[in-house]
Amino acid sequence: MKISNGVKPLIVANWKCNPAKEKEAKRLFNSVKKTKAVICPPLIYLKSLAPYVGLGAQNCFWEKKGAFTGEVSPAMLKNIGCQYVIVGHSERRRYFNETDEVVNKKLKSVIEARMIPILCIGETQKQRDRGETENILKKQIEDALNDISKFKIQNSKLCIAYEPIWAIGTGKPCDPEEAQKMGLLIRKIISKIYNRTVAQKTPILYGGSVNSKNGASYIKEAGLQGLLVGGASLEAKEFVDLVRKIC
Ligand code: 13P
Repeated sequence: MKISNGVKPLIVANWKCNPAKEKEAKRLFNSVKKTKAVICPPLIYLKSLAPYVGLGAQNCFWEKKGAFTGEVSPAMLKNIGCQYVIVGHSERRRYFNETDEVVNKKLKSVIEARMIPILCIGETQKQRDRGETENILKKQIEDALNDISKFKIQNSKLCIAYEPIWAIGTGKPCDPEEAQKMGLLIRKIISKIYNRTVAQKTPILYGGSVNSKNGASYIKEAGLQGLLVGGASLEAKEFVDLVRKIC
C-alpha cells in the first residue's frame, strides 16, 4: 500500500539486545527478510546479516575513528553495508545518559556519513500526566536538529519516530488518534525550524507496543509513514503478519 505522499511505509524492526545467539539471529532474519523491513539487530550480528538492503544499527558513536574504547562509528557501519542508524532511543537516553546534546552529535555524524537517521523522541508517563508532552517533544527535536542546515536535512532522508516511553514494552500502545495528533505536532515543530516542505517530506513513525493487530491503524487511520517495532519484531510470524497487513 502507498500512502498519501506516495512513499511506501517504513517498517523498522528494533531487536534491541536480542537474541542471545548468532544462530537464532540468522534464523529470525531468514524468516523476516522477505518483508523487506529495516532490520536493526545487535551490532555484533550486523556483518553476518549483510548484504541486505535495509540493515540498521541501534546506535553509533559520533567520531569517525580514534581512541574511543568500545565505540563504533557511522563510517564503520556504512562500510559493512548498514544504511540506517537509530539515534536517541529512549533506552539509550535512560540507561546510557544520552543527552539531547549527545543525540545532536550522533545525528550530525550519521548525516555526515550519508546514512539515514531514525531519530527517536517521546515523553514519559509523568511528563504526559503533567501536560508537558508538547514542550518535551519540541525540546527534543530542536536540540537534536541544532545547527543542522535545511540543505543537510533535505538530503538526509531523516525519519522521526514518536515513541512515547509509557507505551514502550508495556502492552499499552498510544491510540492511533493521539499518535496522529503527535505526528501533526512533530510536523509543526519541523516546519518552524525549517519550512513546510521539509516537514511534509519527513516520514513520521510510531513505536510502542506495536503488534500485528494494531500496526496497520497507525498507517491507515493515523496517516503516519511507518512503525518502529520492538518486541513483536522478535517473533517471526507476528512480524511477517504485521508487515503484510500494511505493505
Ligand atoms: P516495543 O515494541 O517492545 O514496545 O518497543 C518499542 C521500541 O522501543 C522500538 O524501538
